[in-house]
Amino acid sequence: MSDKAWGGVFSEATDRRVEEFTESVSFDRRLYAHDIAASIAHAQMLAKVGLITDEECQKIVQGLSEIRQEIEQGRFAFSIQLEDIHMHIEKALIDRIGDIGRKLHTARSRNDQVATDLRLWVRDGIDQIDQRLAGLQQAFVDRCDADLDVILPGYTHTQRAQPVLAPHYWLAYCEKFQRDRERLSDCRRRVNELPLGSAALAGTSLPIDRHMVAELLAFDSIAANSLDATSDRDFVLEFVFDLALVAAHLSTWAEEWILWSTTEFGFLQLPQAFCTGSSIMPQKVNPDVLELIRGKTARVVGALTTLFVLIKALPLAYNRDLQEDKPPLFDAFDTVKASLELAAPLVAQTTLNRAAIAERLDRGHLDATTLMEYLIQRGVPQRTAHGLVGRLVRKAMEQGCRLADLPLQEFRQAHPELDEEVYAVLGPHRAVQAMRSHGSTGPEHVRRQIETWRRRIHG
Ligand code: ARG
Repeated sequence: MSDKAWGGVFSEATDRRVEEFTESVSFDRRLYAHDIAASIAHAQMLAKVGLITDEECQKIVQGLSEIRQEIEQGRFAFSIQLEDIHMHIEKALIDRIGDIGRKLHTARSRNDQVATDLRLWVRDGIDQIDQRLAGLQQAFVDRCDADLDVILPGYTHTQRAQPVLAPHYWLAYCEKFQRDRERLSDCRRRVNELPLGSAALAGTSLPIDRHMVAELLAFDSIAANSLDATSDRDFVLEFVFDLALVAAHLSTWAEEWILWSTTEFGFLQLPQAFCTGSSIMPQKVNPDVLELIRGKTARVVGALTTLFVLIKALPLAYNRDLQEDKPPLFDAFDTVKASLELAAPLVAQTTLNRAAIAERLDRGHLDATTLMEYLIQRGVPQRTAHGLVGRLVRKAMEQGCRLADLPLQEFRQAHPELDEEVYAVLGPHRAVQAMRSHGSTGPEHVRRQIETWRRRIHG
């Protein structure tokens, strides 16, 4: 029982089942590098304010660095009896340097310690996700020039709507992932506030220098209220929300490409290295990676829900419940990171079936809206033009042809403003060419957007 950091007041040993139930080292060992970095900064501060000597500080820093190496090389022994990663590292330090190690926890509690470690970890996590989001955006942008000649049907309600350039689709995803990156960078500002020095909940009577620790660990500011700082996990929820939205965006893209790779659509050829087969149907090549990117979104949204339920009605300040923040956080991060790492090569290596797309682009009267706008430009009220083009579409459907195949006299009968010039806006290619509004799929706008994105991603 004397092995426990809190052993003094206890006269009974901890029940084995309690040790198993309360341990967190099985998952919070992932915080080891951040825990050691924070402890080193803390020790340096303790030396500067005179709570330990420079020599003691040196021994502590040396010891902690050796422990980090041991963990990195897989030589460190973990045991649930020592509960969490913080206790493991502190105990290893004491075993190594004796009584001096017993000074490290001066002016500190595991409550402000874990809050600090977690903020350092989330800060790194944000940077890793941001880097991978940029990689995925790059994959979309990199294929824009080569795909500029491809017109795809654009959909609303999963029904053919209007023709759009393939790069217009790719850049739509760049926009979504850009907002995700902005959200992450905004979240990072709030993450980057130092809780250490809040101690258990009330601060400390010892003469610490929190600003020094903040500077050593590259925090922008120090938390202003110790009760809040030790209980706050908003930053975990914010990060996981941002991850959930990334996952949702990925799921939309995955769903779209799953559909587009079916025989029914036949727009895409997914790289075989990113597909898997069926154990019973020999002919199958399945888009499992895309399906799992879509499916794993559930885990990330689930993690966010878990965290909300966890903090709901939790009284101030630290409560052990908060230990349960780590499994959903780590799982959401791992899941989104892995999805992004697979999405980028999938985007890069998928090929468009140009012939199949072109062959069926004429179906669905994708140029009807452009024809309506042609009439509006000639002074016909929108509602009138809409009804009139609707009737022309019905005629084309009855005759089993495209709008462009209707004889001139049909157009003349429909409206006096319709003469042979109308053929200049019919057909998906001309419909795309006719687009001129900012943000539209008009080739000039799309070309300019491609240029903008090239400069923007790593800016
Ligand atoms: N393992 C704990 C956690 O992750 C560390 C803080 C424990 N503090 C305490 N007083 N029991 O939340």
